[in-house]
Amino acid sequence: MPVIAFANPKGGAGKTTSALLLACELAAKGAAVSIIDADPEKWISQWGALPGKPENVRILSEVTEDTIVDQIEDAAAAAQFVIVDLEGTASLMVANAIGMADLVIIPTQGASMDAKGAAKTIKLIRNQARMARREIEHAVLMTRTSAAVASRALKNVREQLDKAGIDIFSTSIVERAAYRDILDYGGLLSGLDPRQVSNLDKAMENAREFAGEVLAKLRSSATRTKAA
Ligand SMILES: Nc1ncnc2c1ncn2[C@@H]1O[C@H](COP(=O)(O)OP(=O)(O)O)[C@@H](O)[C@H]1O
Ligand SMILES: [Mg+2]
Repeated sequence: MPVIAFANPKGGAGKTTSALLLACELAAKGAAVSIIDADPEKWISQWGALPGKPENVRILSEVTEDTIVDQIEDAAAAAQFVIVDLEGTASLMVANAIGMADLVIIPTQGASMDAKGAAKTIKLIRNQARMARREIEHAVLMTRTSAAVASRALKNVREQLDKAGIDIFSTSIVERAAYRDILDYGGLLSGLDPRQVSNLDKAMENAREFAGEVLAKLRSSATRTKAA
């Protein structure tokens, strides 16, 4: 059903990490989730090859700009959620995936280089929306934020986005060792050992909040579409 794409041409913005966190949360609730791994680094495919991948998560690893539209359409017909992890460039593949998305999440670190990437992505989304003559819901997700301090740079980015009328997730993805560990060891956050991973409970809470906000956004955009 809904297609959620993660885009920002900046590498290291947190696309793959937040895509995997969302997929894991939805799968833990029992939903059938398909992940389209369009990141050339193939982190999510590698995660899927490790033990602990839930059975209700399917990963499609062979994706090209020619096949991605068909693959998203097929996956959306079969799964309850389709998550697309995109590459860190502005390519035809990224444009195609955005054209198919119900929600585009733009992970952004506080740094200004990332914000520039976010601005590029928003421009691309707006163009795709004009071409398709429909709204494409999108929102910026602040990533790798510090649990301890709300930095001035981060506050600045939030204010700028807000002024520009760009939707921002109120949940940020905090920098947590647990988020690196699931990529290394496989499985869900709940499968990690709290004695070995610091602040695992907080990492789980943060991921849950993020997924909850995604679901709320999907619900409110579905209501708007119906009303239109
Ligand atoms: N919230 C986070 N906490 C800890 N490490 C993170 C977090 N977000 C990203 N990372 C790490 O930063 C690197 C880049 O993140 P990644 O999600 O792969 O970004 P992208 O897909 O945008 O290139 C990876 O090594 C990842 O493990
Ligand atoms: Mg990536």
